[in-house]
Amino acid sequence: MESGRAAHPSLEGRRILLGITGSIAAYKAAVLCRLLKTAGADVRVVMTPLAKQFITPLTMATLSKNPILVEFFDPENGAWNSHVSLGEWADCLLIAPATANTLAKMRGGVADNLLLTTYLSARCPVVVAPAMDLDMYAHAATQENLRTLADRGVKIVEPAAGELASGLVGKGRMAEPEEITAYLDSLFARREKKKTLQGKRFVVTAGATIEPIDPVRYITNHSSGKMGYAIAEELARRGAEVVLVSGRTSLPAPAGVERRDVLSADEMFDATTAAFDRADGAVMCAAVADYTPAEVSATKLKKGDGDLTLALRRTRDIAASLGACKGNRILVGFALETDHEAANAQAKLSKKNFDFVVLNSLRDAGAGFRGDTNKVTFIDRSGSEELPLMTKHDVAARIVDKIESLAAER
Ligand code: C5P
Repeated sequence: MESGRAAHPSLEGRRILLGITGSIAAYKAAVLCRLLKTAGADVRVVMTPLAKQFITPLTMATLSKNPILVEFFDPENGAWNSHVSLGEWADCLLIAPATANTLAKMRGGVADNLLLTTYLSARCPVVVAPAMDLDMYAHAATQENLRTLADRGVKIVEPAAGELASGLVGKGRMAEPEEITAYLDSLFARREKKKTLQGKRFVVTAGATIEPIDPVRYITNHSSGKMGYAIAEELARRGAEVVLVSGRTSLPAPAGVERRDVLSADEMFDATTAAFDRADGAVMCAAVADYTPAEVSATKLKKGDGDLTLALRRTRDIAASLGACKGNRILVGFALETDHEAANAQAKLSKKNFDFVVLNSLRDAGAGFRGDTNKVTFIDRSGSEELPLMTKHDVAARIVDKIESLAAER
């Protein structure tokens, strides 16, 4: 078997602040701590007062080789346990197990123990591994808390389904320590700036197009551009040269990315096809209007007494046009569907000659427009892979992982 360091190379030397809350799954925190230590991480442990009922500070101190922190002040000598310096020390705050109570307090900004004050002042990535009974996990309050935390950038290692301490069977069991360790390892691996796409050029389309009706009004859609911007950022972070053809958004251009602003679908078509000429691939993330007013009035349309009918003409499909001439280049598309999701995404794969399609369904809570999270399924010619709810940055990293392996094959 591979040793901890070889299996989780990105954990070496990392400073992990392990937060333990009062759940029966706290016993797994001991194994987790050991796995992190074996992988070469430096681990400090903060426990909530209730967590001590489930696992002893002595066990955790022995395994982490560091004193355990529970109180704001050391009861022996009155020394202050500074939550600010703990947060500064850590490369990652990992709360495992995270109870429904702690998640609710994190959402609400409650600061009534050392772990919560540390969370509120931490600037490092925060990862939670929820653990609770199935009904507590499924409760609308808990789900809303998790969604809000994910929107704020907290990373969630989803619980598994299985037998719970209550004897019931369902989703709520904390992810296994091995899974959490692997999650942290890949989190750090992604943050290491590996220039795996150095020398490659990509075009990314993002945001909504604007189709003018007259000098005042236009047709558009709800796309925020966040997903496309996150992909452009991730491609650039891995060393690629990126042209971001952007429709309307309020986002700043990511570092190291060349942004070309466009308004209409026609302008986006021209800018994207021109940039694709010298590219190794493209990611079509923009929400492009399918129809545009057949005529744009030069003056503001006056209202009359009756209804108004606007004649619309079809826009050109940018993705299909690139698909027709892509040759060996990589082309990734998006599909936002409200019904017959998988079948529609499959049809798009062949019609537009995509290498893979990223499907989001508006039916999934936390997916789609505006938010910071997304729940997607990758669909390619060999099948489909459904990913859990994650931040748009994490989804971007997974998309770029897939692009990276396609690039390596070519
Ligand atoms: O056909 P549909 O609009 O659902 O396809 C979505 C995919 O095609 C997305 O990747 C989108 O960016 C791209 N598309 C495009 N040009 C259009 C319409 C869609 O590039 N005119």
